[in-house]
Amino acid sequence: MEDYTPDEILALLKRAREFKSGASWDKPNKQIFAANLFFENSTRTHNSFHIAERKLGLDVLEFNASQSSVKKGETLYDTVLTLDALGVEVCVLRHSTDHYYDELINSENIHCAIVNGGDGSGQHPSQCLLDLMTIQEEFGDFTGLQVGIAGDISHSRVARSNAQMLTKLGAKVYFSGPKEWYNPDFDQYGQFLAMDDLVQTSDVVMLLRVQHERQDEKANASFSKADYHKEYGLTLERASQMKGNAIIMHPAPVNRDVELADALVESPQSRIVKQMTNGVYARMAILESVLK
Ligand code: CP
Repeated sequence: MEDYTPDEILALLKRAREFKSGASWDKPNKQIFAANLFFENSTRTHNSFHIAERKLGLDVLEFNASQSSVKKGETLYDTVLTLDALGVEVCVLRHSTDHYYDELINSENIHCAIVNGGDGSGQHPSQCLLDLMTIQEEFGDFTGLQVGIAGDISHSRVARSNAQMLTKLGAKVYFSGPKEWYNPDFDQYGQFLAMDDLVQTSDVVMLLRVQHERQDEKANASFSKADYHKEYGLTLERASQMKGNAIIMHPAPVNRDVELADALVESPQSRIVKQMTNGVYARMAILESVLK
C-alpha cells in the first residue's frame, strides 16, 4: 500500500463500486488464466478472489501446494516461474514470508502479474481495499475520520496496510491492545490509546484477530480468552460507549467472545458481513487493473 497514491486508490474504489452496481469488464477476446496459490489457510481472500476471477471471465487454476512439486522441494520462485511459462497471466499469492514477492516481481523471467493475498506480517492490500470500500460506503469521505485499530497490531498485515492508506487519505488512526503486541513502528501512523478511549472516540472500531499462529509458545500457553476479552476486546459494555453512528469492523475470521462479543458480530453496528461481500468487488477491481 506504500506505493499507491490516494488518487490510484480512489480510482480502484470507484471501480469496485461500479462492479458492485453490476458493471462488467470488457475482457479481451482471449483465454486468460489466473492461478491462486495459497500457502497459508484462507476462507475469505481465497474464495472471493476465485469468485472475482470467475465474474471477470478468467480461467482459474487452483494450485494445491500439498499435491504439487512443492512437496519435492520446488521453491516458490520455481513454482511461479513454471506457472508463468505455462501461460498464467496473474498469480494471486498468500505466503507466510514477509515480502515473498520481491524476488518474483524483480525477476526478468517472470512476466505474470503478482497479486498479494497476504504476506506474513507484511501487507494485506486487497483486505485494505475492501475495508476502505466499506468505510467509504458508510461515511463517504475519509478526511478527519477517526479509525481505531485494536488487537494484535505487531503481527497484523491488515493493521499495517490500513494504517498506511487511511492516513494517506486523511483519516486519523489510533491503536490499542496489549502493549507487548504493539510495534513502535506504528507510531508514525497514529497514537496508542487505552481501549476504552479508543472505543469512545472512534468512528470505526476495527478489531484484529489474535494470531496464535504467529505468537511464540510461551505467549500462547499463557493466553486467556476471557482475560483478553475483558481487557482488550469489544465487550457489550464497551460497545454501549461507542458513538451513535460508529461502526464495528473485523477482517475475520473472528474469534467470537475474544476480540468482540459474540452478539456484536452480526449486530446493527457491525459491517463484518458487508466487508466479506465487498471483498469480491474490491478484488475484481484489483484484478482488472493488473490485467489491463
Ligand atoms: N480476512 C482474511 O484475510 O480472511 P481469510 O484468512 O479467511 O482469507
